[in-house]
Amino acid sequence: MRVGLIPQSFLERISLSSNVGPTPILLAVWGLGACRTMMAGVRLGIFDALSRDKGGDRSAEELARQLGYDPAGTETLLDALVGFGHLSRRDGRYQNGKVAEKWFTANSKSSLHNMVLFLYHVWDFMNSLEEAVRGGKSHVRDLHDPERPPEFWEHYLRGLAEFARLQGWEMVRRVPLPKNAKSLLDVGGGHGMFSVAFCRYHEGLAADVLDFPPAAAVGRSVVAEERMDHRVRFIEGDLRHTDFGQDRDAILLFILVHHFSPEEVQRILARAFAALRPGGTIAIFEPEHRGGSDDVTQSGGMMELMFFLTSRARAYREETLRGWLEKAKFDRIRTTRLLTAPMTVLLTARRPEHA
Ligand SMILES: C[S@@+](CC[C@H](N)C(=O)[O-])C[C@H]1O[C@@H](n2cnc3c(N)ncnc32)[C@H](O)[C@@H]1O
Repeated sequence: MRVGLIPQSFLERISLSSNVGPTPILLAVWGLGACRTMMAGVRLGIFDALSRDKGGDRSAEELARQLGYDPAGTETLLDALVGFGHLSRRDGRYQNGKVAEKWFTANSKSSLHNMVLFLYHVWDFMNSLEEAVRGGKSHVRDLHDPERPPEFWEHYLRGLAEFARLQGWEMVRRVPLPKNAKSLLDVGGGHGMFSVAFCRYHEGLAADVLDFPPAAAVGRSVVAEERMDHRVRFIEGDLRHTDFGQDRDAILLFILVHHFSPEEVQRILARAFAALRPGGTIAIFEPEHRGGSDDVTQSGGMMELMFFLTSRARAYREETLRGWLEKAKFDRIRTTRLLTAPMTVLLTARRPEHA
């Protein structure tokens, strides 16, 4: 998948292909608008107010009165959201499009409401880009700095929980667990929703989620809301120094290893191997960096940039992760890609029965 300009007429097609029109600026300005109007629509409660369960369509004036906003400002934002395809307008009344109703309203089962709110923090990271390039990583604050405010952890982990809710059903079918698995460790599991999905799928399984205290605080509420707190528990600590336990049937390292240097990742894998029982499963789930030496994809370049701005390490290629799993003596290494998680890669492997 990639982002780009889509011409809507013959003239626009020629303008785009001949490099005559100022297309790079159009892409940048519209990209900026697409992002910020969507964020404002969520933060200002526009999509929620127009949701089907709240009565649906409204005029700009009705909506402005209901939410206590400026009528001209409300109408301008609504029209921009129509332009970006999130709302439709008929006879001066606005309603959510299918995409907005599904992804942006807080009550939808597939809501990405918190992930959109997390984009405000991503916006701040992006503001430090020039400084980070000039001065290097010492000018960048670590994403997981425990001193970040509770609101940050709430949007970050509830946002990731929204992804995990979408991906859980597929994930549990793609990660093979030993028969009668009883104990899973979810390293850096944050919100706990992947552990919830595995416990629901495997009767008799209980999970420990290991994460920093502010992450565990959010995770405990998420798991309690799912009524799974009797099977999913939290261990607070830094995963680099906290015991992984023993005789684990499965260990998950999801959206995690890019935060660590190659040496640290290899130490984590060796400790995971020792904590698994023979026949136990390890699963690594990561944003994929597919670019080759001469080619960087949009998603690969963007991920590298985000990780540079927010963590100590880089996105790793699948071959690199595979190599480290082999070196740590895991066998049955498999690569899978998920329908529900474009641009990611899932590697599963096993601690051999006689190791
Ligand atoms: C991107 S989130 C992934 C959450 C979850 N595994 C998922 O796939 O959605 C990374 C998580 O790792 C945790 N983490 C990062 N470094 C850690 C460390 N040194 N010790 C404990 N947890 C850590 C963060 O607090 C965060 O919850």
